Amino acid sequence: MAEQAFVTLATNDSYAKGAMVLAKSLRNHKTSKKLVVLVGPHVSDQSRAVLHKIYDEVRLVDVMDSGDTAHLAMMKRPDLGVTLTKLHCWTLTNYSKCVFMDADTLVVSNIDELFNREELSAAPDPGWPDCFNSGVFVFRPSNETYSKLLQYCTEHGSFDGGDQGVLNGFFSDWSTTDITKHLPFIYNMSSIAIYTYLPAFKQYGANAKVVHFLGRMKPWSYTYDPKQRKVRGDVQEASHPSFLLEWWALYSGEVVPMLFREYGDQPFHSGCEEDVALSQDAPPPMSSAERKQKWEQGQADYMGIDSFDNIQKKLDAFLK
Ligand SMILES: *[C@@H]1O[C@H](CO)[C@@H](O)[C@H](O)[C@H]1NC(C)=O
Ligand SMILES: *[C@@H]1O[C@H](CO)[C@@H](O)[C@H](O)[C@H]1NC(C)=O
Ligand SMILES: *[C@@H]1O[C@H](CO)[C@@H](O)[C@H](O)[C@H]1NC(C)=O
Ligand SMILES: *[C@@H]1O[C@H](CO)[C@@H](O)[C@H](O)[C@H]1NC(C)=O
Repeated sequence: MAEQAFVTLATNDSYAKGAMVLAKSLRNHKTSKKLVVLVGPHVSDQSRAVLHKIYDEVRLVDVMDSGDTAHLAMMKRPDLGVTLTKLHCWTLTNYSKCVFMDADTLVVSNIDELFNREELSAAPDPGWPDCFNSGVFVFRPSNETYSKLLQYCTEHGSFDGGDQGVLNGFFSDWSTTDITKHLPFIYNMSSIAIYTYLPAFKQYGANAKVVHFLGRMKPWSYTYDPKQRKVRGDVQEASHPSFLLEWWALYSGEVVPMLFREYGDQPFHSGCEEDVALSQDAPPPMSSAERKQKWEQGQADYMGIDSFDNIQKKLDAFLK
């Protein structure tokens, strides 16, 4: 019987860090599945070397170089570059079933039971619950499905410019046909849920199995003080117990040493506070109009200025 695998995608060195932490979190929660990462051509040799040590299989995907239908699709729809790279996961035909996870997710509990589900299973998107969110989904690799997906891409493009639009268009009966294909929200718990439905978060948040770090600020956009075990950056309440801290503990403890070994004497910024020049990576602070817009788009900076502690303070101030 063919094996089953968790699959992720790293398009550059930043997302490669996410992929490394994701794989560590899966292994630490004792997955019995194989781990596969698709890497784009912009990922450095050093990052690839580390990925090789953590993953069972590292597959380089260079759509422009593939010389097949994917290349043709790319010529017609250059805007869909990363999407086409992600769709490559359907070509992993020596695995019978796979679970795709975005590299900005973190597993906080064993989720091997997802393999009991069928293609295409995914969690609803909170922004439009009749659409699924394409950050975590169950699929069956198949050359046939892959070429149909490419064909769909070239003919219809993507209604949101990314893979979620393509996949929802292609698997368009998801919301109506089979409820077992609806993954519970705990497989895509984003801290945004804390704001939009606080009572539900209090009731179910402790059951979270996958945390998805959405929005502009990714875990790797922050800096970290390993001695005090504190995340820095926009985080105003660094003591806020959080999944962000869990991500950093894993990254600084298990991934950074491997990266330093590969980089040797060459410059490399881990994001841990010992190495300098990190603050340059941090995006500039947003104006309050920008923040309002982000908030309305569901992209609150939930670890920073829009953190629950800050909102609580504001509410308290109002109530007084
Ligand atoms: C890395 O790739 C992601 C996803 O494809 C993209 O959103 C991000 O801007 C890229 N980051 C850099 C530093 O190139
Ligand atoms: C699948 O194929 C790739 C290369 O084609 C190989 O590296 C990998 O080990 C294979 N995996 C399984 C489960 O056979
Ligand atoms: C998870 O849910 C958020 C909203 O809470 C959504 O915007 C995001 O795209 C979803 N991601 C995944 C991986 O399902
Ligand atoms: C799918 O296509 C690839 C590349 O063309 C090939 O190596 C593989 O054997 C095919 N898989 C199946 C199950 O036909």
